[in-house]
Amino acid sequence: MRSQPNRDYISDDVVQTPPALARRLVEHFRPRGRVLEPCKGKGNFLRALRTYAQQKASDGGARRRRRDPAEIAWCEIKCGRDFYHWTERVDWIMTNPPWSQVRRFLQQAMLVSDHVVFVITINHVWTRARVSDIREAGFGLREIVLLDMPVTFPQSGFQLGAVYFARGWKGATRVTDWTRGSLRALKHVGTKLRHTVATFAGPPRESPRAQADASLRRLRTARRHKLVEALRAGCAIAVVIGRPRSRSDRSPETRRSKVRG
Ligand SMILES: C[S@@+](CC[C@H](N)C(=O)[O-])C[C@H]1O[C@@H](n2cnc3c(N)ncnc32)[C@H](O)[C@@H]1O
Repeated sequence: MRSQPNRDYISDDVVQTPPALARRLVEHFRPRGRVLEPCKGKGNFLRALRTYAQQKASDGGARRRRRDPAEIAWCEIKCGRDFYHWTERVDWIMTNPPWSQVRRFLQQAMLVSDHVVFVITINHVWTRARVSDIREAGFGLREIVLLDMPVTFPQSGFQLGAVYFARGWKGATRVTDWTRGSLRALKHVGTKLRHTVATFAGPPRESPRAQADASLRRLRTARRHKLVEALRAGCAIAVVIGRPRSRSDRSPETRRSKVRG
């Protein structure tokens, strides 16, 4: 029996997103407006969201700061803030949710927010029930960023991703690959690109040996033509057709071989 990716896999709800990954994801998706981290855990995503919002506010000057304060809302059941009781509208939700509750968390997130990014194993998205939840909520799958599984996460054969659901999105789903495998793929693309450039630049140059053979063929053809002409003219001929075996064979006479009239 082949090994299945979900064997021995136990869903672990309390895993913290590595701070560097949270920062990179926030900078990639650039959440604007009111943002909610619905289950902050130890707060790694929350800090990344706050830092980003503060940077944006300071870049935008005092006017933007008043309009869009760098305040990020949050919930965490362990702190007595249950996301399922959250009713205010927000623009963005970004989190790594409890994986055993992805369906319910996503339903709730799509109720209160226009943009939702969940760090989950991407198989979570592809059950019929979830596809229909997403469609019925008026959302579409806008982007999936493929991620390597952090060592602190429960390991499984499933692919981790940051999945971006957007209200009203009807376009294609963009796949962005941040995995180590993509670097190898890039090298491959590089090789293919070089090949393509070479193809556009024309056929590869012949090796010296092939060039020598080609010029010999041309020489033989030219001599054959001369021979035919000479025969037609009824001349006596002495001609050497062929490749000298060695340097010593190449007597000046051979090299100067020609049709003699
Ligand atoms: C995977 S951890 C979250 C880690 C954090 N979001 C991060 O990315 O670093 C899931 C968290 O969801 C919390 N949680 C579970 N059910 C919740 C609920 N109904 N409302 C709010 N938080 C909940 C758990 O206590 C846990 O801290």
